[in-house]
Amino acid sequence: MVRPEPLRIGVLASGRGSNLQAIIDAIEAGKLDCRLAVVVSDRADAQALERALKHGLKGVFADPKAYPSREAFDQAVLAVLAEHRVELVCLAGYMRILTTAFVRALSGRIMNIHPALLPSFPGLHAQRQAFQYGAKVSGATVHFVDEGVDTGPIICQAAVPVREDDTEETLAARILEQEHQLYPRAIRLYAEGRISIIGRRVLVREDP
Ligand code: GAR
Repeated sequence: MVRPEPLRIGVLASGRGSNLQAIIDAIEAGKLDCRLAVVVSDRADAQALERALKHGLKGVFADPKAYPSREAFDQAVLAVLAEHRVELVCLAGYMRILTTAFVRALSGRIMNIHPALLPSFPGLHAQRQAFQYGAKVSGATVHFVDEGVDTGPIICQAAVPVREDDTEETLAARILEQEHQLYPRAIRLYAEGRISIIGRRVLVREDP
């Protein structure tokens, strides 16, 4: 599919922003034909906002304390995304659960990256969960966001073996390397119109 204009993406991030950086790097290297229209954070001190600034991108701090409810906050974030004509929202370490209204407003247009092979180890500290459980393989998942927590249709996954000499930190670091490859790839598939969602299954048309 040839787009008249590059896909406009918005990234929501709460912290370090290394996945945001991977997306920025892929765009700057010409490997991902997208426009990063806006980065929104719910934390004023998020490194993700510094990264946006450094690359001349629009960064917006949305303060949850400034709104009376989660619903009102999410409506404000939706307004920022609409103002920047965002077509695909990428959650990258965004540590808030989205409201139903937010998810419904952008159904099939929100992706998330999770540091485990879903449906194993959803929720917080997925790398720790896998390590403590004694899993032999963990990894990373990019999925569409539905109204549950880490339950939406899976777009792509990368497996990471758990080594006997791993610590939680070394495992998390190897998973993160995979995340940085996987997220730009998933966004590219979407931008190229190669993804269809059929119920729970995501079908990907590979390169001809
Ligand atoms: C990443 O490992 C991401 O998969 C995880 O937070 C980290 C953010 O790192 N997300 C979740 O756990 C969501 N459930 P980053 O800010 O450096 O991209």
